[in-house]
Amino acid sequence: MSKFIVAGARALSGEIAVNGSKNAALAVLAATLLGKGQSQIENVPEISDVRVFLEILKYLGAKVDFSNRVVTVDATAAESRQVSSELAGQLRGSVLLAGALLGRFGRVGLQKPGGDAIGSRPIDVHLDGFKKLGATIRENDLIEIEGKLEGTKISLPISSVTGTENLIMAAVLAQGVTEIRMAATEPHVQDLCDFLIAMGAKISGVGTPTLRITGVRFLTGARFRICSDEIETVTFAVAAAVTRGQVTIHNVNVENLDAPLAAFDRMGVKFILQGGKNKDSGRLQILKSDEPYRAAKIVTGVFPQLLTDEQPLLGVLATQAEGETLIHDWIYEGRQGYLRVLVEMGAKVVFDDVHRARITGPVKLKAAEIRTPDLRAGASILIASLVADGQSIIYNAEIIDRGYERLDERLNQLGAKIERTE
Ligand code: EPU
Repeated sequence: MSKFIVAGARALSGEIAVNGSKNAALAVLAATLLGKGQSQIENVPEISDVRVFLEILKYLGAKVDFSNRVVTVDATAAESRQVSSELAGQLRGSVLLAGALLGRFGRVGLQKPGGDAIGSRPIDVHLDGFKKLGATIRENDLIEIEGKLEGTKISLPISSVTGTENLIMAAVLAQGVTEIRMAATEPHVQDLCDFLIAMGAKISGVGTPTLRITGVRFLTGARFRICSDEIETVTFAVAAAVTRGQVTIHNVNVENLDAPLAAFDRMGVKFILQGGKNKDSGRLQILKSDEPYRAAKIVTGVFPQLLTDEQPLLGVLATQAEGETLIHDWIYEGRQGYLRVLVEMGAKVVFDDVHRARITGPVKLKAAEIRTPDLRAGASILIASLVADGQSIIYNAEIIDRGYERLDERLNQLGAKIERTE
C-alpha cells in the first residue's frame, strides 16, 4: 500500500503538460481486438488501469508492447477467451471487451459486473443493445452473449458511455446499417469512433447523439493518437486555482472544456485559453488571483455538459468560494464520498440526498488522515490537502495511480510537497 504525505498551504506555480485520456485509451485499446494487423497507439497514459488492460489483451492472444507512452498491438491471433475475474475485476473498463469480442468473434463470456464505490453501475443498456443487434444472452454465473449480428436502430434509454462504446464496437463488423440514437458524445467516444474509422469502419455522426454505422467485412490495424485528458486538465486547473497559484497547462484539447471553463467563469477563476491546431496542442493558463471566488450551481450531464468525473474537483473549489454552491450529480448515487472526507477536513456541507449537496464557503481546510473512496475522489482530496493547513496523509494512493500518471511527482514540479511512501 502506498500513501501520500502532503504538506499543505503552498501555492502552485509553473508549467505542466497533460497526458492522454484514460477512458479514451481503454476504449481504443479494446477496439484493437477488432482489427487484423498491427495498431500503434500514441499518447497512452502510463497508469495502472492501462497496464491491467494490456495484460488482458495479452491473455486474449494479442502481441503487445508499451514503451514511451506508445502501445503497439497486433490482435490478429487473438481469441475470445474467458478473462478471469481477478484480472477483469480490477477495472470497470474491462466491460469494453464485450463489444469488441462479440463484434470480432460473434461470442463472448463476461463476468457479472458488481457495484463499486461510486454506485451500482448496471449494464442493462449494453445487453439490451446487443439483443437488438441479434445476439442471444444467457445469464448463469457468467453472462454469455452470442450471435451473428445485424444492423438495426437502437435508441438508448440512458446515454451510457461504455454502453455506447460497446454497441459501436459490436456494430462495425455487423451486417447492414446500425443507427444508435441518444448515444453518449464524450471525447472518449469520439476518439473510439475516429480510431475505428482509421481501421476501416464506416461511422457518421461522430460527436453527435445519432451515430450511423455501416458494417464492413474486416478492419485492419491503424495508427492513432489518444486525445488529451480533459479531466486531468481540470485537475491541474483546480489545483492552481484553490492554492491561489499561477499555472500554465500544456497539451490541452480546447474543444473539450466548455462546461468546466463556464464554471470557472461563474466562480471567478481567471484564465487564458489558447487553441492549438490538434486535439492536444492547446494551452490553459490559470491566473493568480486574490479576489474571492463565488458560489455557483454545479450540475453534471452528458458531454458537452459537465462530466461527473469533473464534479468532485469543482466541489473542492466550492469550499473556497463565497456563498452556497449546489452540487447536483444525478449520474451516480455514490459520488459524494469525497464530500464526506472534505467535511472531516472542515468543509461545511449539507447533504440533501444521494445526488445533491450544498457546500458553504469559504472555509479554511485543515489537514486530515484519510482514505479515498474512489479515483476521482482521490484527486479531489489530494488537491484539498494542498490547500489545508498542516500535514495530511492519504493512505490508499494507488487508487489515484489507476487514472493519473505520477500525479504526486507532477504536482511537486509545480511546488507542491507530496511524499510517497510504501
Ligand atoms: N447506467 C444504467 N445502465 C447501464 C449503463 C449505465 O442504468 O447499462 C447508468 C449508470 O448507473 C449511471 C449512468 O447510466 O447512472 C451513466 O453511466 P455510464 O454507463 O455512462 O458509465 P460508464 O460507461 O460505466 C464511464 C467512465 C466513467 C465515467 C462515466 C460517466 C470509462 C471506462 N468509464 O463509465 O469514468 O464516470 O462513464 O461519464 O469510460 C473514471 O474515469 O473514474 C470513471 C468512473
